[in-house]
Amino acid sequence: MARVVVVGSINMDLVTLASRFAGPGETILGERFLTVHGGKGANQAVAAARLGAEVALVGAVGDDAFGMQLHEGLTREGVALEHVARIADCGSGTASITVAEGENHIIVVPAANARVTPQQIERAQSTLASADAILVQMEIPLESVEATLRLGDKLGKPVILNPAPAQPLPVEWLKLARYLTPNQHELAILLGADGNEDFRSLMERAPAPVVLTRGGDGAWYRDGGEPTHQPGFKVDVVDTTGAGDTFNAALAVFLHEGLPTAVRKACAAAALSVTRLGAQGGMPTRAELDAFL
Ligand code: RIB
Ligand code: NA
Repeated sequence: MARVVVVGSINMDLVTLASRFAGPGETILGERFLTVHGGKGANQAVAAARLGAEVALVGAVGDDAFGMQLHEGLTREGVALEHVARIADCGSGTASITVAEGENHIIVVPAANARVTPQQIERAQSTLASADAILVQMEIPLESVEATLRLGDKLGKPVILNPAPAQPLPVEWLKLARYLTPNQHELAILLGADGNEDFRSLMERAPAPVVLTRGGDGAWYRDGGEPTHQPGFKVDVVDTTGAGDTFNAALAVFLHEGLPTAVRKACAAAALSVTRLGAQGGMPTRAELDAFL
């Protein structure tokens, strides 16, 4: 069984379904509202656990009702939470999400996620040392992303950096990642490139190996040599929220099977995840993934 440690955010997702997006200054009537568990870190932890990995999460919730519910949800999924802090007098992270026209718009308020510190990551050293793969995203302070990359490097563990939401990062940090897993837009931002550069050329000048997600078109990967395409799997799209998280989790879980296999399984898992509502809604179990493949 693969051991995966995720360092990242935990959010309550406040999801509104509508037939289209509202413009600036416009009010429209939506169709449905629901609260579901999310946050890129928590999503990746849940997806990895459903795929059969032993998973620990390093992160933070607030001492509010959302924090309690999120903690319980992660416990039910079998994620180890020894390194999830509950921050006093602080709210839990939220994501206000509109789903319309098969797409989503998301605004994240980090709240407790902003209190994940490099010290907290240092304290989780023995947990990180037991990992086969470490996943980190960018909804926690960048100094904590850096601390994760540095500790992973020191421990000789592969760190998958999912640079979402994207910001430019120092090249020395990027070099510490075993894989970068952006989409095209995120890779351009990460490298400080203009929006017009071809994604293959962006991949070639990234300072670490890249696995680039392309939505319904699957993924491209490059670990030295030429970029290779893994086509996407055809499914009926209900909600793409959390597809990237499912992809990253599967990549970490199946990394030991070699990159081409891991990317193929990651594309399949992500495809299954979009067939149901909510970030964690369609995330497949190992059995569901095997049946799909
Ligand atoms: O990647 C999807 C996630 O991004 C959502 O669950 C939301 O919480 C935002 O963090
Ligand atoms: Na989903």
